[in-house]
Amino acid sequence: MTTSVEPFDVVDLIRTKRSKEALSTPEIQWLIDAYTRGYVADEQMAALIMAIFLNGMERAEIRDMTLAMIASGETMSFQTLGKTTVDKHSTGGVGDKITLPLAPLVASFGVAVPQLSGRGLGHTGGTLDKLESIPGWQADVSNERMFEILKDVGAVICAAGSGLAPADKKLYALRDITGTVEAIPLIASSIMSKKIAEGTSALVLDVKFGSGAFIQDIDQSRLLARTMVDLGTDAGVTTSALLTDMSIPLGLTIGNALEVRESVETLAGGGPADIRELTVALAREMLTAAGQPDADVEAALDDGRAMDSWRRMIEAQGGDPDAALPVARETHVVTAPRSGFLDKQEALPFGIAAWRLGAGRARKQDPVMATAGIELHAKPGDRVEEGQPLFTLHTDEASRFERALASVEGAWGIGSSAPAARSLVVERIS
Ligand code: URA
Repeated sequence: MTTSVEPFDVVDLIRTKRSKEALSTPEIQWLIDAYTRGYVADEQMAALIMAIFLNGMERAEIRDMTLAMIASGETMSFQTLGKTTVDKHSTGGVGDKITLPLAPLVASFGVAVPQLSGRGLGHTGGTLDKLESIPGWQADVSNERMFEILKDVGAVICAAGSGLAPADKKLYALRDITGTVEAIPLIASSIMSKKIAEGTSALVLDVKFGSGAFIQDIDQSRLLARTMVDLGTDAGVTTSALLTDMSIPLGLTIGNALEVRESVETLAGGGPADIRELTVALAREMLTAAGQPDADVEAALDDGRAMDSWRRMIEAQGGDPDAALPVARETHVVTAPRSGFLDKQEALPFGIAAWRLGAGRARKQDPVMATAGIELHAKPGDRVEEGQPLFTLHTDEASRFERALASVEGAWGIGSSAPAARSLVVERIS
């Protein structure tokens, strides 16, 4: 009997990264393949990713890691579609519902937007969880049906199949339990392996910083954006990124059905100013990548074209765009204790409060409450009068209010003057 001989020894690779040296292309290809098939054990991979966490990776190593993770599974191609495809990815935030108005808006210009999305874990909400609050709407779509919807409607937001980058799934689960999630080479290769495997021709990244973001520090977020843009470009995908502020919640709602309502308001030409601003900025970026730099994005929001595209997108996945959205059984209003200017509203505690009300899940298998969340009645800089509602908590279980209120304690404040206005989109990286 012959046994196949492995070309490398994983302990040597761990020593290489421990000594701050670079792994070669064949070493990385072997490592990811051997880990996916179970030859490299979790404890060995854990040691290696901790060495990467501490010592970093060079650009070529990150590219090799990304390509090896893509090669671990299936890849999609939209080349037969006859339309340019553009995708968007956000690193996630509190109240970030931008994909909902953005995908149909961009599709209304004849561009295909295949938006493979996920469910929420922890304080950041998932796009699929939000859309599932629409009666009848289904996240699971076959590849054939996805092509049909892209041809006909132009936009599809659906669950990513489990066949894309399986090495990333295994590695991400390991990072989650070994304190190695926040390593830029690992985050960048994880996100980009899935996005490149999806087969889009262009990609726009919304990379967030601030208290409600995955990475809070602006310089680290900028580095993540740069790394991901380089990875996309190296793989032949037209990629750009916007660096955006996530220190305060986006818009006036946090939570699934509440965020759908606000998205529909935005598609009707209204909605909060920050939601419209970011939707328009990302749509311009996507349409520029698709060869339409002069597209009048705001007109499509104001004249009903984006809304028409949204209705068709929801109907194509079994949803009823006219059905009433579910409403929470219980609400609790917090009012201003004095008059002044709202000068603080921290994203992370509000995100955690919405999660505690039932809008998010602690474990992958947990259900989410469509109705739960927070409605904000004022944003930093707004003048408020004593007794005026500041925010309303929504949930189906009143017992959840206490822990949600504990989360936002000290997270908002009223002062005598308005805080300096902040820019939402601070930088473009291409
Ligand atoms: N999202 C991902 O898909 N991967 C990461 O590593 C972090 C966020």
